Amino acid sequence: MIPDRHVRQRIASRFSRRGDRFYIHGKLATDPVYSACAAAIAGRRLPLLDIGCGLGLLGHYLHAIDALEGYVGLDNDPRKIAMGREAAQRAGLARELTLRQDEATAPQGLRGHVALLDVLHYLPEDRQAELLANAVDHLADDGVLILRSVIRDGSWRYRATVLEERFIKAVGWIPGGAQYFPTEGDIRQVLEPRGIHVRFRPLFGHTPYNSWLMTASRHAA
Ligand SMILES: C[S@@+](CC[C@H](N)C(=O)[O-])C[C@H]1O[C@@H](n2cnc3c(N)ncnc32)[C@H](O)[C@@H]1O
Repeated sequence: MIPDRHVRQRIASRFSRRGDRFYIHGKLATDPVYSACAAAIAGRRLPLLDIGCGLGLLGHYLHAIDALEGYVGLDNDPRKIAMGREAAQRAGLARELTLRQDEATAPQGLRGHVALLDVLHYLPEDRQAELLANAVDHLADDGVLILRSVIRDGSWRYRATVLEERFIKAVGWIPGGAQYFPTEGDIRQVLEPRGIHVRFRPLFGHTPYNSWLMTASRHAA
């Protein structure tokens, strides 16, 4: 279920800049990934490690619906982490929502659920396997790894996403920009030998982009 209007407004109001509040409200209203994450972890209250968390919106949303036992968001962009921390403080959630400036592959002292949403392709091909292996290391026995990624499959959606990523790089939203778009096989070949069962499904929402959602765990669905 898309976050309701009150939840969207409450979360957006925690950010100081008007433009950010507008963007966040719209993103929560239109992006199906938040409700998909909530559904994937429903009934399993564990801490969540959100790798490449950006502003930490997933943490704000999962906290608002009382789905979490703790949240650690990591991002290597100091500006986004500062904005996310300020918002968490403004909401009185500085203890519940921890945001750290760190590399995506840096080990953290927690095991639970792991989210990797729209991050993988910003790392070069050889570091993507390292990142996926790091995500598995943080997965509790009952934890779920939720990954959303563009998949390189040659479709028109894939080509549209490549164009969008060129734009994102040009405006400087993600310094360095996209490095390598993985195939489904690239992801499976890291996770499956580690005993992780993987399920893929499209999560296009109302966009032309080639976004796929993967939910993975140590137990077959
Ligand atoms: C498209 S944003 C997605 C943000 C968030 N996961 C979401 O869905 O709203 C990608 C994020 O990955 C972060 N990122 C890219 N490369 C990273 C790296 N090597 N280590 C940590 N974070 C990284 C960027 O700073 C950015 O915030």
